Amino acid sequence: MSRTILVTGGSNGIGRAIAQQFVEAGDRVIITGRTSNRLRATAESLGCEHIRSDAGNPDDVAALFDELNGHVDVLVNNAGGFAPRPTNEEENPINATASQWMENLRLNLLSAVLMTTACQPRLRPGSAVIHLGSIGAEYAGNAYSTAKAALAAWNAGLSAQLGPNGITTNVIAAGYIEDTDLFHGGMRDERRAKLIAATHDKRAGDAADIAATAFFLASPGARHITGQTIHVNGGAHTTR
Ligand SMILES: NC(=O)c1ccc[n+]([C@@H]2O[C@H](COP(=O)([O-])OP(=O)(O)OC[C@H]3O[C@@H](n4cnc5c(N)ncnc54)[C@H](OP(=O)(O)O)[C@@H]3O)[C@@H](O)[C@H]2O)c1
Repeated sequence: MSRTILVTGGSNGIGRAIAQQFVEAGDRVIITGRTSNRLRATAESLGCEHIRSDAGNPDDVAALFDELNGHVDVLVNNAGGFAPRPTNEEENPINATASQWMENLRLNLLSAVLMTTACQPRLRPGSAVIHLGSIGAEYAGNAYSTAKAALAAWNAGLSAQLGPNGITTNVIAAGYIEDTDLFHGGMRDERRAKLIAATHDKRAGDAADIAATAFFLASPGARHITGQTIHVNGGAHTTR
């Protein structure tokens, strides 16, 4: 039976690969994103639905659920990324720090909280919620990585809340995934080589690696997996 899958940030990179995997399985897929042209083009090429919406904007999130009919079987909170560096760093470092942290928290934490809260009445027993976290949450102390760490902490509590209703919620913590726009074309060769060297399988991740994990977490075989952070990074971070 066809399921309804809602993927935030589905117009590019990992979100696009996740959407494609569910479309190919015959599910009804709705993708969101902030940039209308790219969103429309991706939806046309995948053969799925689209709704323009900023996952970190409460009004956009409310409007999205006004437009969307019916229940949601799988919510993928994929939207996220690095907030742009503030332009006023030198003349007002405190203001610049505040705006950079607030924006990273909005893009990577609040987005998932708002989407999940608005979607909760549409979820039903058997539904799955999946969030995109990062390996950076284990090591880095910057605003982006801290927001991803908070996302994983929040997910654990959310699991206790949704679990009694038969709904699972998990984080996929991705390692370095190639061919996305996350780094805005700024990944240097030396840094890339270092990230690959840190893996056990000596390769960069692919968006399809994450899509396959999301597909599994939404499958009947994963119904007893909830409240977890699943690391997909070729061994670059191990939990033991
Ligand atoms: N690539 C990696 O190595 C890597 C590693 C760890 C974690 N991740 C995480 O994986 C997720 C996907 O990243 P990606 O690498 O696929 O990046 P990407 O290629 O830049 O794709 C991001 C997608 O999300 C959309 N988006 C961004 N902010 C949004 C918002 N507030 N509301 C709605 N849509 C939004 C973008 O479209 P618009 O800009 O048009 O909105 C785009 O479709 C992110 O959460 C990222 O932090 C990526």
